[in-house]
Amino acid sequence: MTDPKRYLITSALPYANGPKHIGHLAGAYLPADIYVRYLRAQKKDVVYVCGSDEHGAAITIQAMKENTTPKEIVDKYHAMLKSNMADLGISFDIYHRTTSPLHHETAQEFFTVLNNNGDLEVKETEQYFDEEANTFLADRYIVGTCPVCANENAFGDQCERCGTSLSPDELINPKSTLSGNAPVKKTTKHWYLPLNKYEEFLRQWILEDHKADWKANVLGQCKSWLDAGLQPRAVTRDLDWGIALPEDVEGGKGKVLYVWFDAPIGYISATKQWALDKDKDWKPYWYNEDTKLVHFIGKDNIVFHAIIFPVMLKLHGNILPDNVPSNEFMNLEGDKMSTSRGWSIEMDDYINDFVKKENGGDQMVDALRYYLNAIAPETKDSEFTWKAFQDTVKGELVDVFGNFVNRAFVLMHKLCKGKVPPLHAAILDDADKNLFAEITHAKATIESLIEGYKFRDAQYGVIDLARKGNKYMQDKQPWIVAKTLDTNPEGQQIIDNCLHICLQLTANLAVYINPFLPFAAKKMTYMMKVVDKMLDWENAGKPNLLSVGYSLREPQLLFRKIDDTEVAEQVEKLKIKSEKIKMEAASPNPSGGGALKSVPVEPVTLNNNTSQNPPLEGREAKPEIAFEDFAKIELKVGTILSAEKVAKADKLLKLEVDLGFEKRIIVSGIALHFDPSDIVGKQVTVVTNLVPLKMRGIESNGMILIAEDADGKLKFVNPDETVKNGSGVS
Ligand code: MF3
Ligand code: ZN
Repeated sequence: MTDPKRYLITSALPYANGPKHIGHLAGAYLPADIYVRYLRAQKKDVVYVCGSDEHGAAITIQAMKENTTPKEIVDKYHAMLKSNMADLGISFDIYHRTTSPLHHETAQEFFTVLNNNGDLEVKETEQYFDEEANTFLADRYIVGTCPVCANENAFGDQCERCGTSLSPDELINPKSTLSGNAPVKKTTKHWYLPLNKYEEFLRQWILEDHKADWKANVLGQCKSWLDAGLQPRAVTRDLDWGIALPEDVEGGKGKVLYVWFDAPIGYISATKQWALDKDKDWKPYWYNEDTKLVHFIGKDNIVFHAIIFPVMLKLHGNILPDNVPSNEFMNLEGDKMSTSRGWSIEMDDYINDFVKKENGGDQMVDALRYYLNAIAPETKDSEFTWKAFQDTVKGELVDVFGNFVNRAFVLMHKLCKGKVPPLHAAILDDADKNLFAEITHAKATIESLIEGYKFRDAQYGVIDLARKGNKYMQDKQPWIVAKTLDTNPEGQQIIDNCLHICLQLTANLAVYINPFLPFAAKKMTYMMKVVDKMLDWENAGKPNLLSVGYSLREPQLLFRKIDDTEVAEQVEKLKIKSEKIKMEAASPNPSGGGALKSVPVEPVTLNNNTSQNPPLEGREAKPEIAFEDFAKIELKVGTILSAEKVAKADKLLKLEVDLGFEKRIIVSGIALHFDPSDIVGKQVTVVTNLVPLKMRGIESNGMILIAEDADGKLKFVNPDETVKNGSGVS
């Protein structure tokens, strides 16, 4: 779109069902923030909205897991996400929430308009129903095998492994997430958005009108959706958590809007709230064709933002998005990032471990922003490793950018009396002129990269400019020239020119880096004693941002190196966290939520106190492993010396086990199956080389092997005759 009058920028509303990881940050929040900061520096009329997505099964299921109410869940995680984003410099104009009354009203009004216009179809269909839990099963309430990639834990709305959007009927072997039971079918009535009617419009709008400006991954996904043919999609659900259908809708009692219907309307209600707070008019942002609407999202959200929401917007009479820049996924240390598997770096953890530390602060926010953008999964999945984070921060921020700025300031204080030296035009050489030219040319390059959503290359362009500055300074060697001043009449002029240019470059670097690393840019304005206005984009490329004779402050540290110990600690932390979750899921009755073994997703139960052991279903085959892998496990026989219940954990027993060579404390999730007094003196088989892990504050040093029969009865695995404690098992 050429020359929009105003911009409305959105980032996908994160579910307030738990902490969010840095993959989310890199996917939908950081790129949008870079874009918005760039537009603000250009003095554009721009509003950046986001908020918490607080409805849907993601929330209610988490509430069951934490044995609390959906309301408490959303309050807790909304607060966490809001403060995490602020701490990481994500500069929303508003971070709203979908439980707000204004949002409820807005979403109901939206539904009413479509319904009154006859744009929705009402149908009675048979849907999966859980007789034990007495509810219909949609979305995350039902799991089964993905028909596309065979992932056994695909949800009723989407397979999180391959990203395919699904309906419960497509799942192979469906099971209720609530009871673990196979569901039955029951009739119910719902409202549908007939997407099939808009195939032609979508084909033209996406695959023709936007074929040149949308990213290939987005076009590709849309094309395969359109080629497969669109189906009417239900926009209502039989649930009690969500936005009730408007009261005057016949037969709508007890039903709520589907979360994917209400959530994107959250962008509109957030804009309305922002306008109310700022005494502005929200309407032009959603109705005027000269508004540029851009949705930043992760790849699992493409269909909702490029196909479904645009149809809703069109029917409601709103503008359509100009672009939907979507990122692919960011992996972590060789595996998919996943909070539920413990293989993730939560924003909250990063903030606690790095930002809120004595040697942390804003510079560690910029370090993370830098690395995440440097490896942004713009066109394909990418990979975060702690080692590469350390190397990149050192190699590019500390050694190139930070080093250049620091040298320019130190030398200016040493060789130019702490002031911006004059420029002696008569003796400018090619190297001087070339660097000036680079400063100016960078502007157009960086602009076109940012405007084309290529933030990774744009940031690289800034670092490359600093790299050129370093090379220039290295070639000029003003510190050597300083030693020849007695014999070299032009010496001081050469030094002046070099540092004059380096300081003008520094000022430009502050302008260029500002959208990416706002905290470093701010520090640089302090060092240069200039006001924030200097960071306005119109200053980019100017050779005279700093006045001659102006005295500048001492340099400040912009970035710090990350120690080897910090890297090692983080890698270890990741392993322990994921091991712990694996063990909890593998143990027949782990602490906390209570697992349903037939449902290998994040375990859920309706009642935290019920132990449920669904029937065994034949052999649960695991992939073959190499003998060396088996040989890594150390198994020993030991005798239980004492057993006691763990306070506030109905499933855990704290055992002391004599292993012959030592006595160990092991926490085991067997309290519902064994009376402590019955098991003292029994021999058991122990895995003795597991990473220790804390459960309810007690460090557990090993795991007891347990056999589980078809009725869910547990038995110890032990030698048929007593053996010496510490005997090996193989
Ligand atoms: N909460 C959704 C997710 O995390 C994203 C919602 S985006 C919105 O996948 F457009 F619906 F708001
Ligand atoms: Zn799949």
